[in-house]
Amino acid sequence: LVLGVDLGTSSVKVSAVNQQGEIVAQQGFDYQLSQPKPGYSEQNPEDWVTSTTVAIDRLILKDGIKANEIEGISYSGQMHGLVLLDDNNQVLRPAILWNDTRTTAQCKEILNQMGQSFIDITRNVPLEGFTLPKILWVKENEPQIFAKVKTILLPKDYLRYRMTGDLAMEYSDAAGTVVLDEENKCWSQAIADQFDLPISIFPKLMESIDLAGTISDSYATFSGLKTTTKVFGGAADNAAGAIGAGILSSNMVMSSIGTSGVVLKYEDSADVNYNGGLHFFNHAIPNKYYTMGVTLAAGYSLSWFKKTFAPEADFNDFVTAAAESTVGANGLLFTPYIVGERTPYPDGDIRGSFIGIDGTHTQKDFTRAVLEGIIFSFADIMAIFDAKGSHFDTVVSIGGGAKSPVWLQIQADIFNKKVVSLVNEQGPGMGAAMIAATGVGWFDSVQDTAKAFVSYGKEYLPNPENVQKYQMLHTLYKKIYGQTAEISH
Ligand code: XUL
Repeated sequence: LVLGVDLGTSSVKVSAVNQQGEIVAQQGFDYQLSQPKPGYSEQNPEDWVTSTTVAIDRLILKDGIKANEIEGISYSGQMHGLVLLDDNNQVLRPAILWNDTRTTAQCKEILNQMGQSFIDITRNVPLEGFTLPKILWVKENEPQIFAKVKTILLPKDYLRYRMTGDLAMEYSDAAGTVVLDEENKCWSQAIADQFDLPISIFPKLMESIDLAGTISDSYATFSGLKTTTKVFGGAADNAAGAIGAGILSSNMVMSSIGTSGVVLKYEDSADVNYNGGLHFFNHAIPNKYYTMGVTLAAGYSLSWFKKTFAPEADFNDFVTAAAESTVGANGLLFTPYIVGERTPYPDGDIRGSFIGIDGTHTQKDFTRAVLEGIIFSFADIMAIFDAKGSHFDTVVSIGGGAKSPVWLQIQADIFNKKVVSLVNEQGPGMGAAMIAATGVGWFDSVQDTAKAFVSYGKEYLPNPENVQKYQMLHTLYKKIYGQTAEISH
């Protein structure tokens, strides 16, 4: 068996997976998020360790998983969270998480000081969520803590350290610090020098499938695991999610609808350059990359709409009823900017709209407009891929969009691509397990592991008539941002 540990923002989920790629047991445990001030989002790293250990204990004690049968462990982690350690590797303050937005001033300062050279090195623009602005915030606002910093880690790298005693980061997560020189795969001396950061605080780097070590004696005693179990680097949650969805070649793109939405494309090399217009990170496969755009309110737009206008309805019935409306929702358009937007408009202030409301419209038209508006926003991200001349023919839908045949067909028609969903969708934890399965040698590469573990269900093909209608509507949709920006700013 291998274990895939999915260290998320609100809980950890540990899956025990066999050589056929089947989950034989799974345990999860929640932890708290602390918001001491508006815009702040912090967590106690000790909670990650305790919760993971509880989940592993339950696998062993409740589900009867035998510790000596666990060959390997790997991770998927919430990205960007800043964990600060002192000389004795003790945590200096609560971790500052990816969804903490206190660092707007630091992001501006990074760009002011380094401009284009920052984007050239990191392949990203600095955003509040990323790690470097958080480091600079602590340096400016908590100098007495910063003075004690010996090492910086990310959430799942801290967890791995506690399980093995090895201090390291792997590339897919290190890229999200925006201190990594992504193409040369090393910490950027230029960035460290510019902001007066000792380069020694950034730990050694490893590949996702590299062996970090084995379970330490102390963690074995604490958890019931064996010291023979091998531990592998793991990956950022988006990279692990992409592996779990089989996004391992340039002809595939992932369309993921959670609270926010992610459109993610595999990149064969670092040659393609979006100049910070999309996130560009190292993949969990050596020397491969992925590009990613984010729709801030994807599933959230739908859940907001339902909660506000149809709180009593059964969720599935409510979404399925959208099929009774028409392509284009009988002339109704929705933009999903209800909490601001990230891609293609990095604009926290913009707000959403319903345009074209007619006295004959029913709630089904509104629901359909919401489903379509979210996918138009995803199509805007794909248009950035297209502008770089990329060719992909398959979109793998995961999350909310994959659960509904209506929404799958809307995706096929708006993207004008074949859309498939996973037969057995298990999220980033499965990607983590696939990294461990590769690491322990069940398969020669992550790609081979994916061939054995990942299978796709029914194909949804674009209907040419609908494609044409949606292309016209998408042209109208794209005008709404500019026309409504003034209302929100
Ligand atoms: C990616 C991002 C989120 C977190 C969630 O840039 O901030 O997707 O990885 O864990």
